[in-house]
Amino acid sequence: MVVAFVALGIAQSTIAWGPDGHSIIALIADRYLQPRTRAAIKELLGDDSLADASNWADRLRDNPAYDWSKPLHYINVPRDASTVNLPRDCKDDACVVAAITTYAAVLRNRKAPREQRIEALKFLVHFVGDVHQPLHVSYADDRGGNQVRVSWFDETDWNFHAVWDSALIQRDMKGDRELMARRLAAGISSTDLRQWRSTMNPSVWANESLKITQKLYANLPADKQLGQAYYDANIATVEQRLSAAGVRLSMVLNDILGDGRHARDVQSSTAESDQPATQPAAPNSAPATTQPTAP
Ligand code: ADE
Ligand code: ZN
Ligand code: ZN
Repeated sequence: MVVAFVALGIAQSTIAWGPDGHSIIALIADRYLQPRTRAAIKELLGDDSLADASNWADRLRDNPAYDWSKPLHYINVPRDASTVNLPRDCKDDACVVAAITTYAAVLRNRKAPREQRIEALKFLVHFVGDVHQPLHVSYADDRGGNQVRVSWFDETDWNFHAVWDSALIQRDMKGDRELMARRLAAGISSTDLRQWRSTMNPSVWANESLKITQKLYANLPADKQLGQAYYDANIATVEQRLSAAGVRLSMVLNDILGDGRHARDVQSSTAESDQPATQPAAPNSAPATTQPTAP
C-alpha cells in the first residue's frame, strides 16, 4: 500500500505545474480580463471558474481517449540546445508551443463547434501555464527531471520535476491559493507588464523557460538535497514565472475574446511608471489608458 502510494505520488507529479500553480495563474489572469473577455469565458464555461478549467487538462490523464494529449504539456530539446527549434523538437505539432497556437486558433474561430471551443479554452489556459514551468522546456533523457530523484527537506521520495511543479509553490502558498494570487498580482510592476506583454509568441516564452532550466541543472546540488537554501535561491523565479504566465494568459484571452484593444494597451503601457502597482494594477481599467488614442 505504501509502495503504491509512493509510486502514485511520483507518477502523478509528471505532467504540469500542480493544481496550485495552474489555479494561481488563472486567478492572476482573471484580474486582467476585459469585461468582454470575461463574458465570453462565462458563456463557454458556465459556472466553472477559470481556475477549475485550468486543471482540466491534467484530469484527462486517467482518460485513455486523451492519451494523444500527453506530449502537449511540454517540449524537450537536445542538451546542448540554447533555443527551441520546432521542426526538430515539435514533430507533428506534438508539443506545448504548437498546442498553444493550435488551441488559440480554435478558440478564435467563432464557427468552430461550441464543444471544440470549450475544450480549446481549457487546453489553452493550461498550456500557457505549462510553457512557463521551466522544466516543461527541458530534456527527454530524464523526462524533464521526472527521473531525477531528490530529497525535499525531510522527504526522500521527490523528483526534481515535482519540486518545480508543486513543492516550491506549496511551501510559498501556505494553504491559500487566492491569497498567493493576490500577493503576486500586487507585486507586478508596469515594467513587468510591459516586458511580459511584449510578445505573444509562445516560442519566446519557451526559450525563457529553457534559459532557466539550463541554470537549474547547472545549479542542482550534487547531493540532490533540496531544502531551505534551495527554496530561498529559487522562490523568486517560481513567483515570476507564475506571474508572467498569468499576465500572458490574460493577454491571449483578451486578444481572442476581448475587444481587440490589446495592441494599444502594450504601446500605452510604455508610458506608465515603473512602480509596482499598489492596486493589483487595476487590471480591468487598463484599457482606459488607451482611450486617448482609441478611435
Ligand atoms: N515527460 C517527458 N518530458 C517531460 C517534460 N519536460 N515535462 C513533463 N513531462 C515530461
Ligand atoms: Zn500540464
Ligand atoms: Zn510538470
